[in-house]
This record gives sequence, C-alpha cells and structure tokens, in this order.
Amino acid sequence: MKIFLDTANLDELKKGAAWGVVDGVTTNPSLIAKEGRPMAEQIRMICDIVDGDISAEVVSTETREMVREGRELARIHKNIVVKCPLTRDGIRATKALSGDGIRVNVTLCFSSAQALLAAKAGAYIISPFVGRLDDIGWTGMELIRGITTIYKNYGYKTQVLAASLRSPTHVIDSATAGAAIATMPFKVLDMLFNHPLTDKGLEQFLQDYHKAFQESPVAG
Ligand code: G3P
Repeated sequence: MKIFLDTANLDELKKGAAWGVVDGVTTNPSLIAKEGRPMAEQIRMICDIVDGDISAEVVSTETREMVREGRELARIHKNIVVKCPLTRDGIRATKALSGDGIRVNVTLCFSSAQALLAAKAGAYIISPFVGRLDDIGWTGMELIRGITTIYKNYGYKTQVLAASLRSPTHVIDSATAGAAIATMPFKVLDMLFNHPLTDKGLEQFLQDYHKAFQESPVAG
C-alpha cells in the first residue's frame, strides 16, 4: 500500500519525506488555505519536496471551469494529479480531463455508487472519506471494503485512496481492506512508528551492553 501525506505544510512534508516512506501527497483547498500561499505557488513547493503523485484540487464548480483549471494545475508539474469533487459537473470534468491524458483524483466520495461513477468516468484515483462517515455514525471502513470489491469484480483500474484517516487503526484497516493508497495527516504517520515494547526493548539492549563494556560501542 502506498502512503501519502494529507497536508500542504512544507515542514511536515520535509520531515515525512526524510523518513523515506512517503509516496505522494494529497491536498485540498482547506489545507492550502491554512498555509497562506496561493494554490499554484504552494503546490510547486510541494513538488520540490516529494517525488510522487501530488493531488491539487480545483475550486471551480462548473465543468468547463473545472477542466480549464485542471489543465492549468496539470501544467505545474508532471506529478500533479488533478482533484475534482464527486458532483455531476465534477464527473463530467473527470471524463474530459482523463480523455486529455490528465490523471484525476475524484474526491468527496461517500458511497459505492459514487465510486462506480468515478471509475466509469476514467478516474485515476477515487478518494472515499472514512473519518467523515465515522463522524456521522457510519462505519467508514465499510465503504473502502465495498469499493475495492466492486472495482475488483469489474477490473476497474481506478486506485482506491482511503482518505480522511484519523488513526493508525484506520491505516491498518485500509491496508487489510485492500486500499491501494492511504493518505494521512503527519500526526498519524508519526504515530505508526510507536510501540511501547520497541522503546522498552531498546532501553534494555543498550543498558545490558553498556553495563558489560562501559565503553563506546565502536571502540576497537
Ligand atoms: O483531503 C481529504 C481528507 O483526507 C480530509 O480529511 O480529516 O478533513 O476529514 P478530514
């Protein structure tokens, strides 16, 4: 499973990229707005940090405008994946942009029916939002399971990107459900490292070693 960071914050992206486990980045208009720089400028800087798919979302709501904006975003860098919302206009724009060879990530997906439409329109990625479904009392992970089954049944090439993930459990459940990609906030990626037995075991190893030798481990 690919791991993407769901942030537009350059410091977080630099830290994540340095660990060598980040395959791409997803952004949305809210995440870009938080950083205070216009979309194109921020996206360009992100492309300099992470070498992988970088999702940049259109902010128009009408097909023709979305297509125009999507083409502009795609020109920023070869790694750009244009994000379109799962609306009627968004699906039409997805079809048009995909026809031009531009890769589209269809976002704000909350049902398998919507995911089926995105695949039929030629989406490169579908982004079902797990956490936001949990927020309204549904089991968001059921959606990931449903979509991966449907896509497998019919051989759709659209990649399932589990989005709106809020915890390490969400990430592992996405992997178990067969999501191709999981995108997560930096905080969640950082939490994936943690296990108390790793800390305890390391402390014991070092204590034992230093007790026995009381010298630098590299001294000959
Ligand atoms: O980028 C889309 C998605 O991952 C947003 O997550 O936590 O705002 O629901 P969240």
